[in-house]
Amino acid sequence: MGFKVAIVGATGNVGREMLNILEERGFPVDEVVALASRRSLGTEVSFGDRTLKVKVLDTYDFSDTDLCIMSAGGNVSKEWSPKIGKQGCVVIDNSSAFRYDQDVPLIVPEVNPDAISLFTRKNIIANPNCSTAQLVVALKPLHDHARIKRVVVATYQSVSGAGKEGMDELFTQTRAVFVADPVEAKKFTKRIAFNVIPHIDVFMDDGFTKEEWKMVAETKKMLDPKIKLTATCVRVPVFIGHSEAVNIEFENPITADEAREILRDAPGCLVVDKQEDGGYATPIDSAGEDATYISRIREDSTVDNGLSMWIVSDNLRKGAALNAVQIAELLVERGLITPKKKAA
Ligand SMILES: NC(=O)c1ccc[n+]([C@@H]2O[C@H](COP(=O)([O-])OP(=O)(O)OC[C@H]3O[C@@H](n4cnc5c(N)ncnc54)[C@H](OP(=O)(O)O)[C@@H]3O)[C@@H](O)[C@H]2O)c1
Repeated sequence: MGFKVAIVGATGNVGREMLNILEERGFPVDEVVALASRRSLGTEVSFGDRTLKVKVLDTYDFSDTDLCIMSAGGNVSKEWSPKIGKQGCVVIDNSSAFRYDQDVPLIVPEVNPDAISLFTRKNIIANPNCSTAQLVVALKPLHDHARIKRVVVATYQSVSGAGKEGMDELFTQTRAVFVADPVEAKKFTKRIAFNVIPHIDVFMDDGFTKEEWKMVAETKKMLDPKIKLTATCVRVPVFIGHSEAVNIEFENPITADEAREILRDAPGCLVVDKQEDGGYATPIDSAGEDATYISRIREDSTVDNGLSMWIVSDNLRKGAALNAVQIAELLVERGLITPKKKAA
């Protein structure tokens, strides 16, 4: 017998990818329910070769649903996740609403699977921010080998990270530039077409943005609180796939060749590192794929035990939907969730 799974935000970028991935990976479902806001009432989404009619979150009763994967933003999650959890339905939340809550595990299955057992405190499990998820997949095996002291990262984040409105804005502005129409910025703070914007999420008091702060807090929570990390997060005119230029300082020696070997064997990682024209991964190569691609691995002689590398992944998959489905699979593998129908 399979599970009854609800996808909140099923009409969004992440929600649609979630439906694809649940189907692709053969997650054991008996029933999938697509939920969104009242705006989407009557619309349809695909789940494999089936079509699901979208229902409204506000009027849905979760009491016989086993698992709810939320990707409808922080405010919706803050209001709904605790209520859904109290109805005995396990919530996997894609927003930042519960990521820093001590009673909510923040999970990347390749990094800290054992922390999942904490979920019973609130029946909520948090999925990390897209730029952190791909980073920690690559950092974890290197940290296990040579202990990371400090990470300096600059991100190049695609517009799909800002939802479907972000993708629409890049498309509309690009078209406007070509037909010489006025270019209007609505979703982003400046024009994104043929431009880059060094600003994602709100500014904090110290001058960093919340997106940058999230990378620090989430890496510490999942990997090691002792790791020092500083980030500059930048939006770029790419539809899908986040890239990261990463500089890492280790406590112990590690060569570029050793790092390549370690990452080749590491779960979720794919090393594409031929030091020749085109011998590296770009966001377009990562779109629609599950792997975290690692390229341009090289020793940084300006610090002791330093390495630089380039990390790319599909932000809608490992950065959101794939990681959420892997968390659901982990719950099933460890026997931490049972279908309510079977239990009844
Ligand atoms: N995109 C990424 O790379 C990424 C990565 C990690 C995490 N996330 C997180 O995932 C979430 C969704 O992101 P997205 O990119 O999929 O955004 P999106 O494309 O804008 O979609 C938002 C979804 O939320 C639904 N929604 C909005 N308000 C709602 C409400 N009051 N009640 C029920 N449903 C509501 C929308 O439904 P309607 O169509 O009815 O408006 C839509 O299905 C966000 O929390 C985001 O931070 C995104």
